[in-house]
Amino acid sequence: MNIDTLKSMASAIVAKQKGVLAADESSPTIKKRFDSIKVESTEENRRRYREILLTADGIERYVGGVILYDETLRQSTGDGIPFARVLSDRGIAPGIKVDQGAKALALYPGDKVTEGLDGLRERLAEYRSLGAQFAKWRAVNEIDERELPSAFGIRANAHALARYAALCQEADLVPIVEPEVLMDGAHGIERCEAVTAQVLEAVFAELDAHRVLFEGMLLKPNMVIAGKKCARQAGVQEVAAATIRCLKRYVPAAVPGIVFLSGGQSAEDATDHLNAMNAMGPHPWQVSFSYGRALQAPVLTAWQGQESNAAAAQAALLRRCRLNGLAREGQYARAMESAA
Ligand code: 13P
Repeated sequence: MNIDTLKSMASAIVAKQKGVLAADESSPTIKKRFDSIKVESTEENRRRYREILLTADGIERYVGGVILYDETLRQSTGDGIPFARVLSDRGIAPGIKVDQGAKALALYPGDKVTEGLDGLRERLAEYRSLGAQFAKWRAVNEIDERELPSAFGIRANAHALARYAALCQEADLVPIVEPEVLMDGAHGIERCEAVTAQVLEAVFAELDAHRVLFEGMLLKPNMVIAGKKCARQAGVQEVAAATIRCLKRYVPAAVPGIVFLSGGQSAEDATDHLNAMNAMGPHPWQVSFSYGRALQAPVLTAWQGQESNAAAAQAALLRRCRLNGLAREGQYARAMESAA
């Protein structure tokens, strides 16, 4: 493990104005996204869509890293340049999703645990040789009325996240640690805060026990937010205040950056929340984004699978990246959404 390399790679991903583009949808997930615009999920359509994202001019000002899926890391542009090189030539760190999905946790009905530790050391070595500089692993904690997630489910996921993070640092890859608390459900913001607190406490205890270097990792949490089906949706300031309060209690100041997932929020809400949190700063860590849907939804809408829309799709991506780059500095205003 090269401590200086890990520290500087982690800090570069969350440099001023920058965050992460999550473009690591697995094949079933990208199919769902393509279904929404009636585009067939063929290997070539997936390659072309990712090429549109990764070659968008100007995103390097706002994007410090892009998370890719295994298939994408092995693909190239139409003129044969590997995607990892397209990114690193512009100073964007290529990253790779290395978990193998959340599966039912045996004997704990409703809880899920993320798989993918077997053979991970060897896969990380290969990904590094393909140009990856960082990795991502997502744990999923679902909230229900009373019992979920169970204390054991939280622990099992935290343990797997820590084993993954240690293996990444051993291989000189920066781990993005993603313990997601889902926003599905009817729970209020208070329940989300309580569960997020338990999850973060367990995750950092396990990371510490596994000797993970906090300075050489990034945390990708959910925001503290009411469930989608909850009748009382919290306002922007309330979400920002609850999220920062929770993170300050449980995330060590040694962690260089927090890069939020968007989790099903609209693109505008995700930007607004990020802005409000930064406006409350300074914070011990950089507070930035690692959005999938909140960056890509406008791109898919603009693209529609049509080559003639490729430039408009890239413009939509650049616009969303720029607005989040501003939000990441607390310089965004919702009124900017209606400007050209
Ligand atoms: P969303 O921003 O769409 O939640 O995706 C981020 C991600 O990488 C989920 O693992």
